[in-house]
Amino acid sequence: MTKPLNHFLDIADHSAAHLRAIVDRARKIKAARAGRPRGWRDPGEPLKGRILAMVFERPSTRTRVSFEVAMKQLGGEAVIITANDTQIGRGETIADTARVLSRYVDAIMIRAAKHSNLMELAQHATVPVINGLTDRTHPCQVLADVLTLEEHKGPLAQQTVAWLGDGNNVAASWVHAVGRLGGRMQLGCPAELSPDPAVMDWARAEKAEVMLTTSPEAAVANASCVITDTWVSMHDTDGARRHNLLKPYQVNAALMNKAAPGAVFMHCLPAHRNEEVTDEVMDGPQSLIFDEAENRLHIQKSILLSCLE
Ligand code: CP
Repeated sequence: MTKPLNHFLDIADHSAAHLRAIVDRARKIKAARAGRPRGWRDPGEPLKGRILAMVFERPSTRTRVSFEVAMKQLGGEAVIITANDTQIGRGETIADTARVLSRYVDAIMIRAAKHSNLMELAQHATVPVINGLTDRTHPCQVLADVLTLEEHKGPLAQQTVAWLGDGNNVAASWVHAVGRLGGRMQLGCPAELSPDPAVMDWARAEKAEVMLTTSPEAAVANASCVITDTWVSMHDTDGARRHNLLKPYQVNAALMNKAAPGAVFMHCLPAHRNEEVTDEVMDGPQSLIFDEAENRLHIQKSILLSCLE
């Protein structure tokens, strides 16, 4: 029988034990690198001779650089493919692209315009596929967020996480993370921009402690962590409508003061400063945004190892 591939498509696909192992390993990888130069290779170069293809149907800074540096520091290499510079942009199917890339590389990371493109790639690839963001989920980001939150506040299972604003792809992966790893999530979203009902149904079925409200104040009550994201994501076309709906959900000092004492602030970036979050919060002592960005590197390594070892 053919062994199933170690895809990393969504947090909800994996057991709590597997996700816990990925986060804990990332913490150890980070500790081993402390104080080393950027070019220092991780001990044993465990991905020596391995190649990752990275397919971008949407732009990226953090995902692109963290995966490429992760591969280099683990001894491997990365090939970057932007949809518009390849035959994907001229209509070659995702299924054929998957079959072709599988003949060249050991794994494929895709930032997909549509979640269905990710699923089609995974269905036809014969190497592991990693979700580097779709319109539905952003699992690599949220495991980096869990690592960051736990570094500063302790186990996720003891945290109350407030999500403010659009119930988007990152929010969906956060719901999956709380469903698998524990903790409580309080989403404060306008009714028109609530999370996908399928995500909330999943949370109910998994008995995840997830509360949805339209009140920003109720969402941050007792929260040890407050999170928001851009109001207009890469796949959105209704910017003006979104700004009007989301204005009351801005994370500012007044709202942070309604969270638990010592609450931290996170944002996956890029941010639109003084829209979804004020400069004062982004640059203030509660903000973990650049630790969060750094942790993309350490978590990508752990995810890559889980897929390729
Ligand atoms: N947070 C995140 O995924 O950043 P990029 O869009 O820059 O990759």
